[in-house]
Amino acid sequence: MSERPRPADSQGKAAATTADDVRARAEALLRQMSPAEKAGQLTQYFYFRLADDATDESALGVDREAQPRAVEEALARGGVGSLLFETDPVHINRLQRLTVEGNRLGIPALFGFDVIHGLRTVFPVPIAMAASWDLDTIEQGQAVAAREARAVGIHWAFAPMVDIARDPRWGRIIEGAGEDPFLGAAVAAAQVRGFQGGDYGQQDRIIAGPKHFAGYGAALGGRDYDEVNLSDHELWNVIFPPFKAAVDAGAGNVMTAYMDLNGVPAGASRWLFTEVLRETWGFEGFVVSDANVVRSLVTHGLAADAPDAAARALSAGVDMEMAIEDAAYAHLPEALEASAVDEQTLDTSVRRILEAKLRLGLFDHPYVDEDRAREVLADPGHREVARVAAERAAVLLRNEGDLLPLDAARLTSLAVIGPLADSPRDTLGPWVFDYDLDETVTVVDGIRRKVGDRVRVDHARGVGVVQRLFPSIFDMHGGNRPEDPQGFDEDTEFRRAVDLAAGADVAVVVAGEWQSMIGEQASRSSLELPGRQLELLQAVVATGTPTVLLVMNGRPLDLRWAAGNVPAILDIWYPGTQGGVAVANLLFGDVSPGGKLPFTWPRTVGQVPMIYSHTRSHEPQNQGRRYWDEASTPLFPFGHGLSYSRFTYSELVVDQASVTPEGDVTVSVRVTNAGDREAMDVVQLYLHQRYGTASRPVRELKGFERVTLAAGASRQVVFPLGPEHRRYWSATTRDWVLDETVFDVWVGGDSTADLSAHFEQRRQKSS
Ligand code: BGC
Repeated sequence: MSERPRPADSQGKAAATTADDVRARAEALLRQMSPAEKAGQLTQYFYFRLADDATDESALGVDREAQPRAVEEALARGGVGSLLFETDPVHINRLQRLTVEGNRLGIPALFGFDVIHGLRTVFPVPIAMAASWDLDTIEQGQAVAAREARAVGIHWAFAPMVDIARDPRWGRIIEGAGEDPFLGAAVAAAQVRGFQGGDYGQQDRIIAGPKHFAGYGAALGGRDYDEVNLSDHELWNVIFPPFKAAVDAGAGNVMTAYMDLNGVPAGASRWLFTEVLRETWGFEGFVVSDANVVRSLVTHGLAADAPDAAARALSAGVDMEMAIEDAAYAHLPEALEASAVDEQTLDTSVRRILEAKLRLGLFDHPYVDEDRAREVLADPGHREVARVAAERAAVLLRNEGDLLPLDAARLTSLAVIGPLADSPRDTLGPWVFDYDLDETVTVVDGIRRKVGDRVRVDHARGVGVVQRLFPSIFDMHGGNRPEDPQGFDEDTEFRRAVDLAAGADVAVVVAGEWQSMIGEQASRSSLELPGRQLELLQAVVATGTPTVLLVMNGRPLDLRWAAGNVPAILDIWYPGTQGGVAVANLLFGDVSPGGKLPFTWPRTVGQVPMIYSHTRSHEPQNQGRRYWDEASTPLFPFGHGLSYSRFTYSELVVDQASVTPEGDVTVSVRVTNAGDREAMDVVQLYLHQRYGTASRPVRELKGFERVTLAAGASRQVVFPLGPEHRRYWSATTRDWVLDETVFDVWVGGDSTADLSAHFEQRRQKSS
């Protein structure tokens, strides 16, 4: 990047600075800095101000008085370059003042935070946003999040999480875009654009930090933090593409992963952070470790002690250490003295941090306007973007007999059943901290608002909550741990729920996982509906009342019984602040669902990991019969999602029968809304290479477009297939290849699309 747009100050006003100014000012500062000051700039600390509703002090594993005190002391002596976890503009200003006034050179701190799916306005969880396949909505969502974050003084989001996740036992599947590298890359880039705009120095923008480089989603057994073993071909073809896309979109930061990757802790991998990220992809931003990753090099059995860990991480290319306390990077001056790191490496990392701060305009305007922050957080326009996102994210899994949409005019009563139906905290999902529960619209609220007094809406939770086996740091906020109301008796409540359903015209059951069951440190050994929810669903269906199942989840669940017995199933994910409004709009047909699954939905946990893009391998005719006791096909395929209308595809045309490796092919298809109402669909293109230097997947997504069509309307959708869509990293040549071969193309509404064509790829085009 050469000349950059004008950076903004922390209040969002533009300040005039060019790339040359930034470089010159950073250089001038660097020349004045001592090794200890440099190490300070490379150190980021958590700041745990006591949350009012914090209940579990032990889960944090730190002394909650001593930790913030130590951080403040370090700030005031220039020993910290960045802080994370503070979101209150008043405290951010206070801490920034300590920093700026404390260090001799007046270098401000960078404030980072997990702005994962919104700050005050909470969007659907990331996997849900990916299920919208709607890149504009995804970008807008993160732009709103960036605006709110910047207003309170946060300069940097630890997002997007772009880890490909193919094992739904892993709780962090919820934070990513699912199993597919092509969708994952598109969603990653859209999020980076949303956070940063054209440049994070602009007004209302923040630095994006794609994470966790690399391979975190492939933890053994889906167990969070367990080791990962991935072949090179899987890394290059599957795991890396979303990171590469985020880097190409200009991401200012990248975060390391925690675990061992192929026998080396990711946080000490020079191959990842220097050879791949910088030398191969040209990444120009700065790298941060995940929390305590540098110290953990000792725990992993790689480094001898903290100074050794610091030297190894910095030399690998990890510019900044994120630490809870006692940063290993505080030992960098000794490491320098002992020649374990060289000065040039240290300076390069410091320069990157200083440049990021200068680019953000922090030196000129370190503080935020607290009144403006309050206004921005309350912006009703932000809630609108969140509502649309929740509508677009929902996936209609099944709709037998067109039970949905419901016709409010023909209903007199509705029973809304389930423990998640009226739980604001669960409606928001995990990885949010700055939410407003009072303004969060639950499914029950949303339905009541929609039908007013015309329809009687009764609600019963039906079942009690399920508690986790082992405590986690993520339980630290009181609201994160679900509780039964006082005097709750599950049997009585269960009967009440079933009676309500029996007496209603329609039953809406909201089932899934409490939000604390998914996310970091929330892997599961089962995909079953927790607690007595399945029993409750079965009892409701047995009443004979037509039943709609709304699934609140961030991973596929074992819905084998529901998929055969519940007529309508709508996946609403954790839909966020405006979730209930969106769900009511979907239930009553104001909008038609148009989301599609970003993962293969297995029947049972025993099938995982299960992906649509497997290779043909041996006996492909038996692909669906690999198990003795269960079909080895998915319950719902990747890309699946119905609407209230019906779409057909025709006129599939590949514009050339033969293409050279460097050439472009264009594929077009006509998509028609064959139903009687406006609806949305995601047209998907899949590619398969028949033969070459390696076996290629039976299908791979290589194009998609979300379209809205009026009843009876049709449109031609065009997909480019350039060399970048056809190349792959071959384990035979150990490089990217474009083989001479034949490609099959399929286009349709999910990964089982059957409308197909083919073309060949030849060095010499056949005539
Ligand atoms: C997570 C990161 C997160 C960091 C800061 C870590 O435990 O792995 O994704 O950004 O904490 O909250």
